[in-house]
Amino acid sequence: MAQRSGRGRVAPASEASPPIARTPAEKKVLETINEIVKAGDLYANVPAADGRMLRILTEAVNAKTVVEIGTSTGISGLWFCLALEKTGGKLTTFELDKTRASLARKHFKQAGVEGRVTVVEGDAHQNVTNLRDPIDVVFLDAEKEGYVDYLNKLLPLVRPGGLILAHNTNMVPEYMKVVTSSADLETVVYTTGGGMAVTLKKR
Ligand SMILES: C[S@@+](CC[C@H](N)C(=O)[O-])C[C@H]1O[C@@H](n2cnc3c(N)ncnc32)[C@H](O)[C@@H]1O
Repeated sequence: MAQRSGRGRVAPASEASPPIARTPAEKKVLETINEIVKAGDLYANVPAADGRMLRILTEAVNAKTVVEIGTSTGISGLWFCLALEKTGGKLTTFELDKTRASLARKHFKQAGVEGRVTVVEGDAHQNVTNLRDPIDVVFLDAEKEGYVDYLNKLLPLVRPGGLILAHNTNMVPEYMKVVTSSADLETVVYTTGGGMAVTLKKR
């Protein structure tokens, strides 16, 4: 339900009410996200509105394999894990910065999802070339000038019907051109939070 807020604006329900845990595992992940935010172990992490969208899309396509570029301290990874707990899937997430990668590992452990997540440290442009398995969901959230290269390297692995999600769409005009000019792709932009391009690889 939407709620009336100041100046007649209708607040989306996602702003009005936090997610409600359905299982103890979900509760532990949500509590970990809240604790990280409170402790300030943050670096350019997705806001909750975007994290919730990542979770919903991932669960909706029943993703078993998620690849994330740009782990930071693990907040978006934890939102993915809420979905992966249900689908039985795995997240492989790439991070250049050693300190952030190690904080993310600590957070995944704290949330009890370390068995679902592989953090790959180093330059993702190089490291993604080692991936071989089909991917259900890709999330691009590293340096913005790298998005087109990541797309070129990962799109062949994305299964038909899979999704490519790209954060901060207003900062990636070249990427937006590519994903909106191919008959093989269908893209919409979700403008809440940091803005996210949601691209379907057509069947
Ligand atoms: C916006 S933050 C990611 C936020 C994270 N997705 C979240 O919401 O919790 C971007 C991250 O990408 C990482 N990064 C930048 N260039 C990279 C590269 N070439 N390979 C891997 N990671 C990279 C940065 O170190 C930074 O931690």
